[in-house]
Formats: sequence, structure tokens, C-alpha cells
Amino acid sequence: MSISTMSCFSFSILLVITSQALLFIPLAYSNIIGHSTLTCRSYCGNLTIDYPFAIQSGCGHPGFRDLLFCINDILMFHITSGSYRVLDIDYAYQSLTLHDPHMSNCDTIVLGGRGNGFVVEPWRAPYLNPVADNVFMLIECSPESPLFEGFPGKHLPCGNVSGMGCEEYYECPAWEIIGPNRVGPVYGSGPPECCSVSFEAMEDVNLTKLGCQGYSSAYSLAPLRVSGPDGWSYGIRVKYSVQGNEAFCKACEATGGSCGFDTDGNSDLCMCGRWNSTTNCDSVHSASNRIRWTLMDALAGYLICLIIWRNLLRLQ
Ligand SMILES: *[C@@H]1O[C@H](CO)[C@@H](O)[C@H](O)[C@H]1NC(C)=O
Ligand SMILES: *[C@@H]1O[C@H](CO)[C@@H](O)[C@H](O)[C@H]1NC(C)=O
Ligand SMILES: *[C@@H]1O[C@H](CO)[C@@H](O)[C@H](O)[C@H]1NC(C)=O
Ligand SMILES: *[C@@H]1O[C@H](CO)[C@@H](O)[C@H](O)[C@H]1NC(C)=O
Repeated sequence: MSISTMSCFSFSILLVITSQALLFIPLAYSNIIGHSTLTCRSYCGNLTIDYPFAIQSGCGHPGFRDLLFCINDILMFHITSGSYRVLDIDYAYQSLTLHDPHMSNCDTIVLGGRGNGFVVEPWRAPYLNPVADNVFMLIECSPESPLFEGFPGKHLPCGNVSGMGCEEYYECPAWEIIGPNRVGPVYGSGPPECCSVSFEAMEDVNLTKLGCQGYSSAYSLAPLRVSGPDGWSYGIRVKYSVQGNEAFCKACEATGGSCGFDTDGNSDLCMCGRWNSTTNCDSVHSASNRIRWTLMDALAGYLICLIIWRNLLRLQ
């Protein structure tokens, strides 16, 4: 092996090492930049919207697509039964707190069947469900309601949920306005004015189907037990769950990407800023490119070195 071949071989190796080091700087930089500017994370009012939720299309998890909308800094949650205001998203406990303006509470009872209740699209059902500690109190339901099927012979589905139920709810000032004659903790001859149920027992809370005039909903943040219906938290607490692709998303985020999905194909996408990956932002696609460039660098360096060397020899 000639001295020129050996020197140029060493030179090209040096070149590869240098180019790798130089390549690493913009790569690391773009990952950091990508994380802060090209991410799917966004805000609505003072709420942070992060995976699995999103308000931009293609971001987040497909189970939560077309669910949240930010309107004048108010985050709205939209499902089959209607629109709700999102009061809180608890990422640690994977839950959302919703408010329905036509829902009754301790101060007001809203009748006329204007409330939403809670019904999700069947395809979304695996992802969203009111928590087990959430009570739905169905108000002024028709004696023909499916709730009272077989009444008075059959056992009613009404009961306490996490220590909350109609018997205590009747103590609210709202019921004084309606009139004490309409209130009866003992069911007497007719069905009760209020029937408290868990979501689990219902599958969905459709006020029309149940023939109810109104409803209230309260939740308890176990193990905290607040005594008295005026201390309850009124609203609908919904548990969300991301099925399956948590590993995909962790890997994507770890490489500076944002988790999303292909709007057409419904497959997972890792958004890496200027490109989308089906795995993560350090994926084979970019790695194979880097290796190809490295080999070309080495080859070019070697040839240039040889040419210069030959010319130098000729000049002597
Ligand atoms: C967000 O703003 C609402 C009022 O718009 C307030 O009630 C709530 O406490 C705020 N939440 C946080 C976490 O700051
Ligand atoms: C990446 O995917 C998202 C969501 O499908 C799309 O909106 C975006 O245009 C894609 N970006 C590129 C660079 O292809
Ligand atoms: C509620 O039930 C009624 C009557 O069964 C039905 O027409 C309506 O579509 C249901 N609403 C929702 C949101 O599923
Ligand atoms: C529901 O809870 C109230 C208050 O704790 C209690 O008085 C009542 O007996 C309970 N009802 C049922 C059916 O367990």
C-alpha cells in the first residue's frame, strides 16, 4: 500500500469523525427546537391541551379527535349528547371535569329536558366514561321511564353513589323552590322525583330516552368525602383512557416529536417538525440517510485527497 493511499485513508476517517460531530450539533439543536415550537401542545384560556387531547387536526390520539374546541378562550367538549365546558383536565389522574349549563345543582333545578345528560359516540366509548365516583341524579322522570320498569314490584336502580344520592340532594335549597309536596324520600305510591344512578348502571344518560325533565351530576374526589349536598362538586367527571399506543407516543416524545395520527389512514404519526415519522424522530429513515451521507463524505474525501497528493508528487 502506497503512502498516499494510507494517508488519504486516515484523512477520510478523520473527515467522517469531524462530519459526524458537526452533524450532531444541528440534529440535537433541531430536536430541542422541535420540542418547543413544533409540538402539538396548546393552550385554551388557562388550560393546557396535551396528549392525548389536541385542538389541531392530526395531533393527539385519534380516539379524542374532533372532541375539544377552543372558543374565545373557553374549552368546549363536544359529544353526541351536546357541548360541555371543560373546567379542568387532570393529566395525572386521566380525567376531565365538565360543566353543562343546563344541569341542576344545589341552588337551581333546570327542568324542560334541556340538559345534555351524557352520551358518547359508540366508537368513542372505550376512551371516555364518567368515573365510578360520579353520581347522576335524574329529576322528574316519567312513570313510564325505563328507569321504573316493573315499578313498584321490582327493585329500582336508584341508590347512593359514593355516599351521594337523591335523599341528601332533596335537602338543597333548589328543592324548596320546586315545592315540598313534590319531594318524598319515601317513594310512596309513585316513582321518586329524583333517582340517583351511576353511569355504569346506565351505559348512557339520555334524558329523552329516560323520559326525564332534568338532571344533576356530582362527583367526589375520593378519599375526600364532603358531607352535605351544598359541599358536593357539581359537574361531570370523566375518565379518559388511551388504549394501546402509549409506547409509540413515549418513544416519539423522547426524541422530540409530537404524537399524532395520519388523518387519512388513521395510523400513528410522530411529528418531527419538518417531517412525519411512523416511528420516532430518530428513526431509520433519518439514520439511513445519515449513514449514506457519511459514506459519500468518506469516499469524496478519499478521492480528493488522492488527487491532491498525485498533483503534489507531480509538481516535485
Ligand atoms: C382557570 O381560570 C378559571 C376562571 O376562568 C379559574 O376558576 C380556575 O381556577 C383557573 N385554573 C387554574 C388552574 O388556574
Ligand atoms: C404531518 O402530519 C400531519 C397530520 O396528518 C399533517 O397535518 C402535516 O402536514 C404532516 N407534515 C408533513 C411535513 O408531511
Ligand atoms: C336519546 O334517545 C332518543 C330516543 O331514544 C334518540 O332519538 C336520541 O338520538 C338519543 N340521543 C343521543 C344523543 O343518543
Ligand atoms: C344514602 O345516603 C344517605 C346519607 O348518607 C342515607 O341516609 C341513605 O340511607 C342512603 N340510602 C341508601 C339507599 O343507601
